[in-house]
Amino acid sequence: MEPGHLAEAQKLSASMDWPHRIEDWAMALDLGHGLVALDDGDVFGTIMWWPYGESDATLGLIIVSADRQGRGHGRQLMEAALAEIGPRAIFLNATSEGLPLYTKTGFREVGVVCQHQGVPTRDGSDEVLDGACIRDLNENHVADVISLDNRATGWQRDRLLRRILADGEGLISGKGDRIDGYALCRRFGFGHVIGPVVALNDQVARTLIGAWIARCGDGFVRVDSPSSNGLSDWLASRGLLKHDSVVTMARGVTSDNTPAAPHVFALASQALG
Ligand SMILES: CC(C)(COP(=O)(O)OP(=O)(O)OC[C@H]1O[C@@H](n2cnc3c(N)ncnc32)[C@H](O)[C@@H]1OP(=O)(O)O)[C@@H](O)C(=O)NCCC(=O)NCCS
Repeated sequence: MEPGHLAEAQKLSASMDWPHRIEDWAMALDLGHGLVALDDGDVFGTIMWWPYGESDATLGLIIVSADRQGRGHGRQLMEAALAEIGPRAIFLNATSEGLPLYTKTGFREVGVVCQHQGVPTRDGSDEVLDGACIRDLNENHVADVISLDNRATGWQRDRLLRRILADGEGLISGKGDRIDGYALCRRFGFGHVIGPVVALNDQVARTLIGAWIARCGDGFVRVDSPSSNGLSDWLASRGLLKHDSVVTMARGVTSDNTPAAPHVFALASQALG
């Protein structure tokens, strides 16, 4: 995939009712690698992957145009991407349409991510953490934020976090030098995405997301949150209704151990993890 393919790739995702703008595709390509399926130069299939350090990657934006599905193109794209990715452990978030392909190519189900979105309510019922200190994330905090993110994910996502911060903004929670959570926010799709959000506990995560909701005004907001971390009911109560869910799948992951804390409360996106 090259920058010249992005306009057609965006049309392909729009044909699936996916909200990605051309800028969202450009950021994805800037951070990772992509392959396209072409017919006489026209894009009818895409797949992308993003390396996070030497041993991990996420995979996503896998699409075959509706008129060409069921003819093996999805598997061909997947096998070509897997050959590029090599022995890294891989995570992806699967739509129901993608599940058969991923199961057949060695992925297993490890979780569920709920897609919450809408125009948030402004009822002031935020459970603000007692004594919470929410601050703008600046360059001085970036190294600590990357370290917190690495403890939660096991991934080395320096480039991703710096790129999101270049396009958007971040908040941190914590007193003095201690950072017990961060939340980024950027334009994406129909409005803004709040994510990644990583925090020591759900109260810190709610406080950070609540602070972003207050800043986003009356605009459309999306949060992709792992169901295991229990924010779904609270997000829905803030007007971010559950729109859909995807199945998190892994391939080549040797350990099922998830850290005691911090945890991931919202993804950068379903594709980027
Ligand atoms: C997911 C998608 C990319 C698959 O592409 P495709 O070209 O239709 O897939 P293929 O024809 O290569 O089929 C892949 C495998 O899944 C199997 N499969 C597909 N649909 C199936 C179904 N409903 N039940 C069981 N198996 C199914 C195929 O038999 C094939 O297995 P095989 O290679 O062993 O024969 C395509 O359906 C798509 O673009 N969907 C919409 C966008 C989307 O949701 N993408 C996934 C994002 S995570």
